[in-house]
Amino acid sequence: MADFELTNRSKYNQNYKTSIANPEAFWGELAETNFLWKSKWNKVLEFDFLSPKIEWFKGATLNITENCIDRHLKQNGHKTAIIFEPNDPNQESEFISYIELHHRVNRFANVLKSKGVLKGDRVCIYLPMIPELAIAVLACARIGAIHSVVFAGFSATALATRIKDCDCKIVLTSDGSFRGAKTINLKAIVDEALVDCPNVSTVLVAQRIHSEITMKTNRDEWLQPLLDQASESCEAVAMDAEDPLFILYTSGSTGQPKGMVHTTAGYMVYTAYTFKTIFQYQPNDVYWCTADIGWITGHSYIVYGPLLNGATTLMFEGVPSYPDYGRFWDIVQKFKVNQFYTAPTAIRALAKQGEAFLKPYDLSSLKVIGTVGEPINEEAWHWYNTHVGQQQCPIVDTWWQTETGGILISPIPHCFSGKPTYATLPFVGIQPALMDDNGNEISDTKAEGRLCIKFPWPSIARTIWGNHERYKNTYFSAFEGYYFSGDGAKRDENGHYRITGRVDDVIIVSGHNLGTAPIEDAINEHKQVAESAIVGYPHDIKGNALYGFITLKKAVSSENHENVKKEINALISSKIGPIATLDNIQFTTGLPKTRSGKIMRRILRKIAGNDTSNLGDISTLLNPEVVQSIINQTQTK
Ligand code: WT7
Repeated sequence: MADFELTNRSKYNQNYKTSIANPEAFWGELAETNFLWKSKWNKVLEFDFLSPKIEWFKGATLNITENCIDRHLKQNGHKTAIIFEPNDPNQESEFISYIELHHRVNRFANVLKSKGVLKGDRVCIYLPMIPELAIAVLACARIGAIHSVVFAGFSATALATRIKDCDCKIVLTSDGSFRGAKTINLKAIVDEALVDCPNVSTVLVAQRIHSEITMKTNRDEWLQPLLDQASESCEAVAMDAEDPLFILYTSGSTGQPKGMVHTTAGYMVYTAYTFKTIFQYQPNDVYWCTADIGWITGHSYIVYGPLLNGATTLMFEGVPSYPDYGRFWDIVQKFKVNQFYTAPTAIRALAKQGEAFLKPYDLSSLKVIGTVGEPINEEAWHWYNTHVGQQQCPIVDTWWQTETGGILISPIPHCFSGKPTYATLPFVGIQPALMDDNGNEISDTKAEGRLCIKFPWPSIARTIWGNHERYKNTYFSAFEGYYFSGDGAKRDENGHYRITGRVDDVIIVSGHNLGTAPIEDAINEHKQVAESAIVGYPHDIKGNALYGFITLKKAVSSENHENVKKEINALISSKIGPIATLDNIQFTTGLPKTRSGKIMRRILRKIAGNDTSNLGDISTLLNPEVVQSIINQTQTK
């Protein structure tokens, strides 16, 4: 990407300027010179943020897997594409070359075809972090099927909701997964989910933990024998630039998750370019992102971004604490990792364990270290900088979202550095705006407001699967003509952005995006619950933890409170997953409401955060007395 390199401040300034002054020329040239196209586009960009309609490289045809794999074969075929590090450090790591990846993706693609999967069909992937997961994703892309990866920590109910929403006919899973010292029986979760999904006709099962599982005749089949028989060549289907590449679900303000639809060409161009420049990837580097491929971070920066650049990308099956809290550093040393990308919640958890776990390991291979998922607090930033980066590595605090497909605001090493808690400056082509309470864009440089983006970038999600109206309402209606992120931000006098957190009903817990409504829906299913409200409150490790204020239908004795609490958390676990369970539950006699009946979460948030000195005007509430009673309760706890 010679002309598009971002290796010093003036190159960034220059590229940024051109990308804003003439986006079509900028992205058109970048796309033309760096990727393999089957045929060219008619127009680089067509958009209208009101409909909204966004089309990049319309009319072009391509296949993203040819860009991820085939074009590297000639010169770099023997280079390692994927390093797989298993959960158990005593088990052997796997090195998958580009040639081998090509064969394995083709075999998998042929198996999918033999099961009747056609271009445009949705394929649900519910797999742990084993090579088959990345290969399955690419196999779908090879034949133009739309992958819908569901994080393998989600419950049966959550899985069923996602399978039904986009009508998947096939599910790819494994017998189970390893997570530290535990094993999880994934196949049983799939079986439970499918009771509710009559349209699923095929389940292919990878063998990982060798557990006893039940196979349903005429529906379930072991994957490996099918792969063994399949041909290792498979033509890459020509996809239109705007054909959907994948659906990935994210939480929203109602119980139904939003299936964000990402399309092919724009997503490819943007993830490839951001990966290369933000992580400053050099040809022989080893890159490691600790996320799960079940999240957008894994899609864009474990699979697509790195492979598009012919990089070596590491996939880790396990957890940071197994066999002990030195595991990450053991892996960095073992493979001489050069770029390391993780989440603030992991950094805080590791920092808490102390430096003794880092000491035995040589981390001098690291060149760039990154974070994503939530605002990183100053203490964690310094710990990361001092102990992991050893003050030698630029930290890239990357701000983006499932909806944005790729990183939008981040430091770029050698161009401008980070400063603690700041995501800093917009990436090339990104035009952020801060909006005030009246819905106007703030023109002062130093400001605080709601973070919007006022011009499309190539990897923005194009719609919500099956619900374009919801897409419009969620992202394009709050501020006409702008994409609204749902986050608040501050901008300093140098134009650097600091993300302050969500301003809507989404709470980020350990980097996981959780909507309050689906959790409340789950709680309200408990037969003793009358009403509930969930808020986030600051937590040392998780960033935010969940606090539930719950009104029961009938008072229960205090011994029974503990049981009801357990039942409520079990219910949340089964409806959504363990990530959404509550750290704190308080039974209240009522919830503070406005006269129109809306729960005043603002007040509950302050109570949960132990900050009741200034609750603002509560006299307009329908039931102001409830507030005092909740506060009294917390004080006697
Ligand atoms: C939300 C998106 C993007 C992949 C992981 C999360 C928060 C993300 C940062 C950051 C402050 C951040 C935002 C955003 N967020 N990165 N560097 N600093 N906040 O994807 O699950 O779609 O969540 O994560 O609140 O809106 P997601």
